[in-house]
Amino acid sequence: MLEQDISRIFFTEEEITACVDRLAEQVCRDYAGKTPIVVCTLRGAFVFAADLIRRLDLPLTVEFLSVSSYGSGTVSSGNVDIRLDIAENIEGRDVLIIEDILDSGNTLSHLIKELNARNPASLKLCVLLDKPERRMPGVVLRPDYLGFTIPDEFVVGYGLDYNQHYRNLPYIGVLKPDVYRS
Ligand code: IMP
Ligand code: MG
Repeated sequence: MLEQDISRIFFTEEEITACVDRLAEQVCRDYAGKTPIVVCTLRGAFVFAADLIRRLDLPLTVEFLSVSSYGSGTVSSGNVDIRLDIAENIEGRDVLIIEDILDSGNTLSHLIKELNARNPASLKLCVLLDKPERRMPGVVLRPDYLGFTIPDEFVVGYGLDYNQHYRNLPYIGVLKPDVYRS
């Protein structure tokens, strides 16, 4: 049923699996001997985070964080509006943020600023998808771990939504234009 709304598959389940394997290897290597706090941003990253952490043979803990999204051009302050904050104190801890997609970079740059103010020992960023063409001028963000770079197209599936739908697609695809029109 959902498949009828998809015009093109960007990444198949197999490609995503291979990608998550590769990222997990890198994370495991870098965090060997550490006890990281993995911060999953809601809601888009929950599928990616669930797959990634099951490949991490590390004594990690998981936290969830939800940030309000701003409309374009409405970000005036240096703070993000955190709707659901993490429960754990991250001071002196190794923190790894898991995000679904890096677009303008607004949300993440503000979130990183906010979390850095809490003095973690380290703060790294793991992003499944990056749309560098969409980055806001002046926002410098380089994910420490990156799945795929994609062009400026709106994608759904594997946690990513359009109007809260399509998160449960097992692959990443592009919606047919008439889905947006209806
Ligand atoms: P940013 O602050 O503009 O980087 O916003 C990133 C957020 O926008 C992501 O966490 C997603 O929730 C959403 N987003 C950006 N591009 C897409 C897309 O192609 N599909 C679904 N959600 C997207
Ligand atoms: Mg998101």
